[in-house]
Amino acid sequence: MKPLFSILVLVVFCLSCKNNTPVSSSQSKKRGVIAKNAMVVTAREEASKIGADILKQGGNAFDAMFATEMALAVVYPYAGNLGGGGFMVYRLADGKTGALDYREKAPLAAHKTMYLDNEGNVVKDMSTVGVHSVGVPGTIAGIFAAHERFGTLPTEELLKPVIALAENGFVVTKKQHEKLDHYDSIMRVVNGKDILFTKHIKANDTLKNIALAQTLKRIAKNGKDEFYKGETAQQLIRFLNQKGTIMTLKDLELYNPKWRDPIEFQYKDFTITSMSPPSSGGLCLAQIMKMMEPFDLKSYGHNSVKSIQVMVEAERRAYADRSFFLGDPDFVDIPTKELLSDSYLKKRMEDFSFEHPTPSEAISHGEVLGYESEETTHYSIVDPFGNAVSVTTTLNSGYGSKLYVDELGFFLNNEMDDFSSKPGTPNIYGLIGGEANSIAPEKRMLSAMTPTIVEKNGELFMVLGTPGGSTIITSVLQVILNVVEFDMTMQEAVDAPRLHHQWLPDRIRMEVDLFSEDLKQQLETKGYDINEASAPITARVEAILVLDNGQLEGGADYRGDDTAIGF
Ligand code: GLY
Repeated sequence: MKPLFSILVLVVFCLSCKNNTPVSSSQSKKRGVIAKNAMVVTAREEASKIGADILKQGGNAFDAMFATEMALAVVYPYAGNLGGGGFMVYRLADGKTGALDYREKAPLAAHKTMYLDNEGNVVKDMSTVGVHSVGVPGTIAGIFAAHERFGTLPTEELLKPVIALAENGFVVTKKQHEKLDHYDSIMRVVNGKDILFTKHIKANDTLKNIALAQTLKRIAKNGKDEFYKGETAQQLIRFLNQKGTIMTLKDLELYNPKWRDPIEFQYKDFTITSMSPPSSGGLCLAQIMKMMEPFDLKSYGHNSVKSIQVMVEAERRAYADRSFFLGDPDFVDIPTKELLSDSYLKKRMEDFSFEHPTPSEAISHGEVLGYESEETTHYSIVDPFGNAVSVTTTLNSGYGSKLYVDELGFFLNNEMDDFSSKPGTPNIYGLIGGEANSIAPEKRMLSAMTPTIVEKNGELFMVLGTPGGSTIITSVLQVILNVVEFDMTMQEAVDAPRLHHQWLPDRIRMEVDLFSEDLKQQLETKGYDINEASAPITARVEAILVLDNGQLEGGADYRGDDTAIGF
């Protein structure tokens, strides 16, 4: 090859990897990034690169998880965090699976009616912004627990590239700029001043977070206790005290992540492992898929009226159950076996008809308010040894409570809103919680996060998850079905238009302008109410598929700055 031509080929190749431009492996199929050994897919290129570099250095998926989670806190503070929590589902190379819950907890002084006024009404904004909305963060405890059990490289080494990223800075993308701009005024109001992220940041600016670099250096030196007992803990509580918190040092000291048995179920030839309560993700996903399993979706076709009807009807029934039965399993008894039993799910679909919808009121009752945009972030990793981790982590809303601890360089969550402040009244996602999810000291709030791993014939097949509040479960569902029922590649499955139903409000939410007028009209004629306008689907799926030849296909969502990096 002539040198100039070789350079051109190389540049085109690198650009396609960098921007995650789907690469076609055949004429008709649009493929994502393909790699032989390992893959990391996250919301940002910098985080994927740090994770992939750790794997190249000989680290495993859990080492990469540790570094990737912290890298997202630096480069994607919208949802990446030290001040939030998350869930991880793993599958080891030998096929063993498990789950880690590092969800935030209610402080000791929290109580059932803390967000109600004297008349018993929910106080507006109290559980969603500012100091009162903050749950006890679990992220640092979570990544240390995962690393302690499975990691191989020293945590100081894993944090080095992350600290460098915080010190040297990262380039603000156009999409990131738009989000910062959108939240600028609320961040100023909540913090009562300018913070690092409100200073008229423009796209292409380089943003350095020196305070976060310092925090990470102390964590690198002192370990997990730095965050829960050390100087960082003291600074955090001092800061929160000035704002009038109920959280104390004792809350931080008491925080513990929990290893859980994941939800495991069979869908045709596939074994699906997903997150158990206090996330509703795995259980709802299992209910929906088991209710859909008897229907011949393949013959109905992808996003056809009939497929949509089956999906929507299964979703509304599962979300109704979610509302009544689910909460923190350390506090409430969840009838998991019954909810997942074939006989129960068959009965649940008995009144389903292709002729008309089953009104949600006929399934159960609830009162419904509006939505707010919802944020979380997910990353999927497969390492060269064959281990896989699927991790969803969050501050809840975009930038969480909007409360930014400037001395420490991170935002705090507003996860307390995921409790039902008043049973029967919806949270920011319009989700209605029951008594099972009422607030109690040290209780974990119910989640919809659905980090998931799929096996085919006993082998690793897919690793996926997404942000998106209440739309997380239904987005994971659709991406799995797109591959296993509709023969899509990983990238096609991630790209395909998505819709959502959550029992109440009784409407199908559809990605705007991605569904045909004809399809919408047919659904409306059947009696379905369609909402494209006010409630966008914010899921951005990060997924990895193991191909027949053993290679990995990374599917990063075009809806964000998401990037797959493999080698
Ligand atoms: N905060 C969103 C969720 O946990 O589902």
